[in-house]
This record gives sequence, structure tokens and C-alpha cells, in this order.
Amino acid sequence: MATVIDGKQMAASVIDSVKSAAANLEADTGVTTGLAVVIVGDDPASHAYVNAKSKMAKECGFKSVQHTLPEDTTQEHLTELVATLNNDPSIHGILVQLPLPKHLKSEPIIQSILPEKDVDGLHIVNAGKLATGDLDTGLISCTPAGAMVFVRRTHGEDLSGLNAVVIGRSNLFGKPMAQLLLAANATVTTAHSRTRDLPAVCRSADILVAAVGRPEMVKADWVKPGATVIDVGINRVPAPERGEGKSKLVGDVAFGECAEIASTITPVPGGVGPMTIAMLMANTVIASHRAAG
Ligand code: GUN
Repeated sequence: MATVIDGKQMAASVIDSVKSAAANLEADTGVTTGLAVVIVGDDPASHAYVNAKSKMAKECGFKSVQHTLPEDTTQEHLTELVATLNNDPSIHGILVQLPLPKHLKSEPIIQSILPEKDVDGLHIVNAGKLATGDLDTGLISCTPAGAMVFVRRTHGEDLSGLNAVVIGRSNLFGKPMAQLLLAANATVTTAHSRTRDLPAVCRSADILVAAVGRPEMVKADWVKPGATVIDVGINRVPAPERGEGKSKLVGDVAFGECAEIASTITPVPGGVGPMTIAMLMANTVIASHRAAG
């Protein structure tokens, strides 16, 4: 049976450091770290994530501002809000929750966030720094940064000689995850929906990272014995499909059967999720320290 990583506990330790860093900054310079979170529309899952982020920001001692905009918000209005937040010196981090409603173009919005306030690490300046191996001066996307904490904890800083497979190629996760693994000297494969014989590709992985958004897609016979398996999926499976009374959150990995083959595995919930929020807080306090000089 694999060791199950306790994401909540590891996130709590990151949060402790963030609280100290925010308190120190305030004591030394009078600057309160500020995070603005923007959500457009009514998607209940997005609201739950955003509320958790705003709440954690408060717990960290930040100024925490949430802008909840209606579904019919225009591109111009959202662009103006981002510009206002860019110009507000009390705000060090700006997060626009994705996905945006269909009538809005997310890319111009993301690229309009100042790179130094882009705590999601999605601006091309931050993505470019990561892609060119600068891990120090930009901001790195929170979920991959959190997943790397688990990888380092299991394998150390240097992944030389290890094969890593990332399933998924999004800008928010798959691409930056692959870059981080590569920067740590892993041999990295990015697999996706067009990959041929995905189970065989996954079986080559010492470190297997799944971010596809398909409930329990990764099966036991996709997992190399002794591998580290990181599950980035959060899928709400409705009750009727499970033959149970309540809907349930499951990952992209069939946890029970894969835990019998892997040596280390992350659960859903309680794995990558809490760590993502912790890394968002870490990015925000990094941004406020940089802004304060
Ligand atoms: N939607 C799901 N995850 C994320 C995230 O990490 N950042 C943003 N902005 N939107 C998301």
C-alpha cells in the first residue's frame, strides 16, 4: 500500500511560513499584503474555490478583496477592473478565476494583469521566465508549484534519471508542471488526448501526474510499480452515477487500485487542492515583498 501524501498538513506548514512572512513585512515596512480575487458569473464550484481563497487570504493576515461580477459583465468592464487593481498599490496579487463565461475572452484579460501581480503565473512574462529556466524572478502557477512540493518531498531536489509523465497540456497546469519537472532534471513526457497508447506511456513514469478532468481515468495497470502518482483532478461525480445518495469528489486517478501499485500517491480531496491555495498565498506574499523592495 502506497504512502498517502497529506496535502492538508503540508499546506498548513506553507501557510505558517506565509503568515510569518506577511507579519514580518508589516512590522518592517507597514505594508499589508493584498490579494484581489475576481469572479464572474454563478458557477457554484468556482464560487466555492474563490471563497476558500479569499478566506485563506484573511487568515494569512492579508487585505483580501473579492470582486463578484454578474454573468453579463462586459469585456470592457472586466478590463477596467483589472486596470484599477493594477494601479492600486495596496493590491499585490490579482487572480481572475477561470473559466470565464463564454462571451468573455480570457486571454486578453490575463495578459492585462501586471506580471508582478499575476499570482496565477499565467502572464506570458511569467510563463516565459519559467520556460527559459528562470525560477526565481517571476511567479509560478500555483497548482504545479504545489505538486512540485510533493515531488521534492518524495524524491529530493534532483530528479536526474527519473521519467516523469504529465497527462494534460493546459497553460494553467500541464505546461508549467512539465517545465518544473524538466528544470529539476527529470526526463519529461507531456501526454494528452492525442497521445497513442496512453497506458503504456504512463507505465514508463517514475512520477506520474494526472490533470485531465476525467474521473478515475488512470487505472492500476497504467502505474509503474513503486511510482509516485500525483492526482490534480477534481471531478464532482453526481450521485446517480455512483448509485449512492450524495455526489462525491474524485480525482483523475482510480485511487484505491492505484494505491496498491504506487509507492506514494496524493488523495482527492486533501492532496493537491489545499496545496494550490497555499501556493497562491505564497505567491502573493512574494509579490508584496518584491513590491516593498
Ligand atoms: N480555475 C481552476 N483553477 C484555477 C486557478 O488556479 N486559477 C484560476 N485563475 N482559475 C482557476
